[in-house]
Amino acid sequence: MAKKWGLSLFMSYPNLFRSLDLGHVVLPNRIMMGSMHTGLEERPDGMQSLAAFYAERARGGAGLMVTGGFSPDAAGNLGPHPAMMASSTDRDRHKVITRAVHDAGGREVLSATSDGPLFYASLAPGSYRVSATYGGTTQTRGVKLPSGGKRELYFYW
Ligand SMILES: Cc1cc2nc3c(=O)[nH]c(=O)nc-3n(C[C@H](O)[C@H](O)[C@H](O)COP(=O)(O)O)c2cc1C
Repeated sequence: MAKKWGLSLFMSYPNLFRSLDLGHVVLPNRIMMGSMHTGLEERPDGMQSLAAFYAERARGGAGLMVTGGFSPDAAGNLGPHPAMMASSTDRDRHKVITRAVHDAGGREVLSATSDGPLFYASLAPGSYRVSATYGGTTQTRGVKLPSGGKRELYFYW
């Protein structure tokens, strides 16, 4: 049944599962989740809950998501406990969501070649899977970068 539904969806919307190059990012498909105020935005633990909510949808394959319920100014507040996107503090608070979504989607954030022997990269806090290749041998490791802290990762061949 699910297979039949998938095929008819593809026949009706042949471009739906085609990737879309936006210039700075390539979306894996054209499925977009519109902004929806969930009510979690104003809760004290809301950002963590929203991160889990959006990460689940990223794992399901949504190509693009727009978070909802965040007002760009005081006039747009939806309730007594405002959730805003009006300052760098708001932006930083929001990063827990984008990080969870990027982690769930496993998108590449950096690909670089170096003559070595050392290579330094400055990345936003989050969980990363790092692969390094030398002499035809690739090593892969997971690393968690804490906010406000530094972490170094060494590969030896
Ligand atoms: C429960 C619910 C919450 C929504 N919250 C927001 C919001 O916070 N910000 C926003 O810009 N649009 C919000 N919308 C509007 C949707 O993003 C969308 O524009 C609207 O549902 C029409 O989409 P459609 O043309 O695909 O049906 C909300 C819609 C629903 C149903």
